[in-house]
Amino acid sequence: MTKNASLPLLGNLTPTQFLVEYWQKKPLLIKNAIAGFTGFLSPEELAGLACEEEVQSRIVQHKHGKWSLKNGPFDEQEFSKLPKKNWTLLVQSVNHYLPEASELLQQFDFIPHARLDDLMVSYAPDGGGVGPHFDSYDVFLLQGQGKRLWQMSEQRDLSLVEDAPLRILKNFEAEQEWLLEPGDILYLPPQVAHWGIAVSDGSEDCMTYSIGFRAPKHQELASEFLGFMQDRLAQEKLVLTGMYQDSNLKLADHPAEISKDMVHKVGEILSKIQWSEDDITEFLGQYLSEPKPDIVFEANKKLSLKVFNDKLGKIGIALDLKSQMLFSGDTFYLNGEAASFNVETGNVLRTLSDNRKILPHRIEDPVLLQQLYDWYIAGYLYFEG
Ligand code: SIN
Ligand code: CO
Repeated sequence: MTKNASLPLLGNLTPTQFLVEYWQKKPLLIKNAIAGFTGFLSPEELAGLACEEEVQSRIVQHKHGKWSLKNGPFDEQEFSKLPKKNWTLLVQSVNHYLPEASELLQQFDFIPHARLDDLMVSYAPDGGGVGPHFDSYDVFLLQGQGKRLWQMSEQRDLSLVEDAPLRILKNFEAEQEWLLEPGDILYLPPQVAHWGIAVSDGSEDCMTYSIGFRAPKHQELASEFLGFMQDRLAQEKLVLTGMYQDSNLKLADHPAEISKDMVHKVGEILSKIQWSEDDITEFLGQYLSEPKPDIVFEANKKLSLKVFNDKLGKIGIALDLKSQMLFSGDTFYLNGEAASFNVETGNVLRTLSDNRKILPHRIEDPVLLQQLYDWYIAGYLYFEG
């Protein structure tokens, strides 16, 4: 990606202009952002994905003023029971299953991979949608086939309907609305109230592709980081030497009372738990590349290191669609596991992290070759084609 070139995807803004003016600040409507885009999944294929055991999917229905939610996996009969209007099917992490989806995400490379969540695809006949709500995510809502009317409001009142099975805003008042057609994008920062309603005369129902970027809550980061620090303590990477001492112990009025002196001493011991930027980097690398709990990698069949390298030289290698790879300096994090290399070797792995693949390339360095081989056997990499 050329850093300062204007992108049709961003309405001819440069990525820098987009980041300065819009990212996490205000909505942006981009007409014809991806010319000719109508999506790469038919409604039937999306429904097929929603029937798979490992795929996360939901059906949201709006009937007689009430919202209902059903989680997948579904069976085919489920779909035939649905009415003609006012429902939607949503399928999460489509980029884990379709190479086209992973390629689509690469067009959004002006946002760091560490912020990426997934590609969700929805299908809805006329009137379908998930109701007025806000997300804690940044999202690019890309219209596939059909049309969707987006209503939007920067209202402060974000109170939710109490007894609904999904997050529905109690008092949504649309301030603006846009009709999105195939290839149009609406970018929304977190906390902006919105409601997307499928518009269809029956000839072509609405499919929306949501490219979502996660913004972890401070509470979540702190809880995960404390877990990481606990592991460091258990692995003795964090060592606090010494033992509680009270050679100056004073006779207490109440033997059951926790003394101020004890609280003070323990406070001093705990203040020795410290961390450096290197610890934070390692935490982020592991945490942000960690697969979600439901993800399973299928091990590849064993082959000799020589055959593996020959294949690398002929066809190159790519990250499995479910793999997440990040790096900092010469340390690489693949699916929650860290590995460090020297600068030269690192260049190959930086290309793999950024582009999700390396072109045909025989590897001379035995350490790098072994690492790629181990990742391949674990199912984290695959040979394209
Ligand atoms: C959709 O219905 O496809 C998008 C849901 C949303 O508004 O986040
Ligand atoms: Co939303």
